[in-house]
This record gives sequence, structure tokens and C-alpha cells, in this order.
Amino acid sequence: MKVLGIETSCDETGVALYEHGRGIVAEALASQAAVHAQFGGVVPELASRDHISKLAPMVCTVLDDANSSLEELDAIAYTAGPGLIGALMVGGALAESLALGLGIPAIPVHHMEAHLLACLLERDPPEFPFLALLVSGGHTQLVEVRELGRYRIVGETLDDAAGEAFDKVARLLSLPYPGGPALAALADGGDAERFAFPRPLKNRGLDLSFSGLKTAVRLTVEAERKTHGGELPDSVRRDLAASFQEAVVDTLASKCVQALDATGLSRLVVAGGVGANRQLRATLAELGARGGADVHYPRPSLCTDNGAMIAYAGACRQSAEAAPAHRIIARPRWPLDELTPP
Ligand code: KG4
Ligand code: ZN
Repeated sequence: MKVLGIETSCDETGVALYEHGRGIVAEALASQAAVHAQFGGVVPELASRDHISKLAPMVCTVLDDANSSLEELDAIAYTAGPGLIGALMVGGALAESLALGLGIPAIPVHHMEAHLLACLLERDPPEFPFLALLVSGGHTQLVEVRELGRYRIVGETLDDAAGEAFDKVARLLSLPYPGGPALAALADGGDAERFAFPRPLKNRGLDLSFSGLKTAVRLTVEAERKTHGGELPDSVRRDLAASFQEAVVDTLASKCVQALDATGLSRLVVAGGVGANRQLRATLAELGARGGADVHYPRPSLCTDNGAMIAYAGACRQSAEAAPAHRIIARPRWPLDELTPP
């Protein structure tokens, strides 16, 4: 049983082939970082155009690498949301039209469900139920995952997502897009205790907030600029990055502890682009080692956007959600807890 996965929700084009019993047999990823870097963020129209030019050749490459062909596919999964509408339409249009031509089902996949299932592709996968910390560019949620498709959001950000905060603070520190990985690299070797940034809503329920933290960093950057006559010295930039990262990681880790306690769950799964952050992974691993939870996170390349997680999520839902009508589904907004089990 072979499922092709297509990811085009934002600024990465991802394609992968999943085979039951074998796992991911081939995959390809194209980053649009160079396309958007000069604008300091994702330009939706440029994202759509880049997906258009890259996607079909990447499908051919993946099938070639897997020694397979379109005719051998049993289904085609694609990201149907949430994401940028134009970018979603590119993947949806190719997936639905290929599936129509081949007479096989196309499977619309929820991008955040794919993120939270990605760790099941790893060797020692967690069993249901578990608590998922979903931290991406657009989402920051704590989700009680009872089984495939049964999700209860127990906490989420009231304003910025964690990834968005990384990206905005990176811009304040004049780092290039994409900001999260650049900020994490700058924080390496910085003094995380130099600036005492707030831990918003730390002991107040399971919701999160990052916009106040971002403002605190902005005000500190402005004050430090004045002190240093305009330009921030590298050592100050490093310490600002490390102190900010520490505040985010500390906040996320403490919310995870509270959410594990509130739900009675003993397994924690970290998913989404910010899950690639080394400091976050180390802090949560330490929490696990202290007996707080059985902590799982996929390798960094499965945390950030990729085609493998879409192929896998599609395979999980294959039998139940085959869409014979071949209607392109593209939902810019799509609450995770609207999903039901297959
Ligand atoms: O899941 P993802 O690849 O795309 C979305 O679904 O949004 O997440 C992207 C987000 C971006 O905000 C990016 O800056 C952040 O994840 N990110 C990181 C790291 N790698 C990616 N943030 C902190 N540290 C990283 N190493
Ligand atoms: Zn994502």
C-alpha cells in the first residue's frame, strides 16, 4: 500500500512516499528561504508560484528514487489546511487531479494532525494517549490526544505562536529570515541570565501568551541601542537571544508539566518547527529524565514542515477518508479539534 504525500501549506515544498510495512521510502524537500529572505518574511504569492514550479518535478524525483511510478500509488495525501490559501491550492490541485486521473483516492490532511503524528514515524513511537505540545509558526497548543482523530485542546496561545515570537524577535536582532533557527544559533554561547524577560501567564492555567515577551525584548533592544550609541554589540545580541530563548523554553516546559498534571497523562510528544529547537529538546528531555514524563520528539527534520508527515497522516486516514468526489479542499483556518477518528 503506497501513499504519496504532498505538503505546500507555507514556504516548504515537501513530497514523500510512504509504504505500509516499510515506512518512508523516498522524500524530497525544497525550502523557499532564499525566495522570501529579501522581504524578511513569507510573501504568499511568491510562495504559491514557487510551489507551482517545484512540485511536479519533485513528485517525479521521489517516485524515481523509490523505484516506483504513479501507477503503483494507492492514494495521494495532501495538506488541505491550515495554511496559505494559494499555497494550499497548488498541492490540492495537483493531488486531486493526479488522483482523478489515476482513479485512486486523494486524502485531504490536517497539517497540525500530521505534525503531531510525525513522532510515530520514529523507531520507538509513543502509544496513545499522550499530551502533544504543538509549536509551529502559526500554532502553539497543548493537545490531549486520546487516539487518532480524538483531540482536545487543553491550552493554547492567546496571541503570538512560539515560532512567530522567535521570528519577530529574530527580526528585532537583525537576523535573516527564517528567524527561528538563526536566533537559536545566535543564542548558542550567549548568557541566558543577563536579561530577565517575563514568563507570561506562567502559573495561570494552561493558556500561553508570547506578545508581552516580544514587547519586553523590543523595549530592551531599544534601551541597549541607546546605551551603545545605535548598534548592538554582538555580545549583547547573543545574550538577548539566549535570554529570550530561555524565557520561551522555560514557559513551554512549565506549561507541559502543568498540562501533564491536569490531564493525568504520562507521555509527552513535541511537534512542529519549534520542536527542532535544541534548548527546548534538552529541557524537555531533562524533565523526562527526572521522571516527569516519557518524552518523545521526532528528529528535527520531521519537526519542521515536510512531506513525510503528510504521507504518513494520509496513510493513517486512508480507508476512511478517501474523497471520491475529487473536490480540492483548502482551508486556511481549520481547528484541530473539529477532526474525528477515521
Ligand atoms: O512547523 P513549521 O516548520 O511550519 C509551520 O507549520 O508553521 O514551523 C516553523 C516555525 C518558524 O516560526 C520557525 O522560526 C520555527 O518554527 N523554528 C524554530 C527552529 N526551527 C524552526 N524555532 C526555534 N528554534 C529552531 N531551531
Ligand atoms: Zn508546520
